[in-house]
Amino acid sequence: MGFILAAVGSAVGLGNIWRFPYMVADNGGGIFFLVYLFALLTAGIPIMILEFGIGHKYRGGAPLSFAKMSRKFEWLGWSQVIVCFFIAVYYVLVIAWAMSYFYHSISLGYADDPSGFFYNNVLGLTEGPFELGGIQTQLLIPLAIAWAINFIAIYAGVKGGIEKLAKIFIPVLFLMVVVIAVRGSTLPGSAAGLNFMFEPDFSRLFDFKVWTAAYGQIFFDLSIAFAIMITYSSYLPKKSDLTGNAFTACFTNCGFSLLAGIAVFSILGHMAHSQGVAVQEVAGDGVGLAFVTFPAAITTLGGMAPLFGMLFFLALTMAGLTSLISINEAAIAALMDKLDMKRKKVTVVYTGVAAICSLVIATGAGLYILDIVDHFTNNFGIVFGGLIQVLLVGWIFNLKSLQDHINSVSEIKAGSWWVFSIKFITPLVAGYTGIMTLVGDIK
Ligand code: PHE
Repeated sequence: MGFILAAVGSAVGLGNIWRFPYMVADNGGGIFFLVYLFALLTAGIPIMILEFGIGHKYRGGAPLSFAKMSRKFEWLGWSQVIVCFFIAVYYVLVIAWAMSYFYHSISLGYADDPSGFFYNNVLGLTEGPFELGGIQTQLLIPLAIAWAINFIAIYAGVKGGIEKLAKIFIPVLFLMVVVIAVRGSTLPGSAAGLNFMFEPDFSRLFDFKVWTAAYGQIFFDLSIAFAIMITYSSYLPKKSDLTGNAFTACFTNCGFSLLAGIAVFSILGHMAHSQGVAVQEVAGDGVGLAFVTFPAAITTLGGMAPLFGMLFFLALTMAGLTSLISINEAAIAALMDKLDMKRKKVTVVYTGVAAICSLVIATGAGLYILDIVDHFTNNFGIVFGGLIQVLLVGWIFNLKSLQDHINSVSEIKAGSWWVFSIKFITPLVAGYTGIMTLVGDIK
């Protein structure tokens, strides 16, 4: 149970509440959702089973586990750990924004000018990525709190810290999002928001951008190809139902995304309704969805606005924290293995370095840098990291031995569907979308 909650804690994060809705909005609404489900079945669940198998069989962080498979694979684990580090450094800032929005929800400080509030007051956005513009001092307190919680949980260890935190945070988080979704979907106009999320625009079925976004979202959303699930499963007892756990973690996570999507789009539908415009017009794009458009939508809820604002941003904060912890745990576990050092020492040094690096994203150029890092870590780190992982493990390494290991402990067997997804479907789709993105970037 502790393991499932920790794995779900890693998977459920900003990706579900902040990233998923804007991916839907930017990629044709319902069609994105369909491709996302396809990606879940062909990449998400199979890779989750694969990573649980690797961690459980080889019992180490990602670099050590890969090294035990073959000395030639260790670098793959390190490349995933490095991507984790880059993600941690910007991810923590989004949590800090959410914390600061939680505070400002009390007095609805963002109500008058949601866009100005986010870009000027919170971010102090400069003209471009090369103009740092100084650290936003009001972000320092939330940033310090986020790092402190992260530090305490990891320092206390897997059982005493990480699992304990997940056991409290995850149920509370679900409850909060259910409350928002129920309230949202009973508001006038909510149906239009939900239609926007679910109605597929089939003309975009063959648009590779939709496929890249959906596959990228599955990787990011489920924390796969990030060293994390390998690390977490290395702590599992010998007798553990690996496929069962993978199904539970994946469906819980994607169910949560669905719930968060319903919460966000029903309230956006309500705002569109009260302004007499189409949902497309208010859905906004990118990062702004959770921090500009959604706060604006919340203020249309009247007397309940502060409460729902606080609920939403607290949910975002809690979801983010359990994921941040997992990202850092993956890196810390890898360093502990390699340097043969104690958890406590590595945690102190690692957190110190990461916290200092995150100050760069707390400057006025932070959003630009975040966008660039997010683009590279997701489109390349994930698609290529994930792609190389399935190619190496599926084709070069003896996949059958891993399959036998998984099936020897699991109730649901990983069969030919699993092998076919790992060997063919994921490499083909991830390879194609990855190359198309690369070509698009070069152009
Ligand atoms: N899965 C987490 C989310 O949805 C994010 C994450 C990405 C966590 C990468 C760990 C590694 O927000």
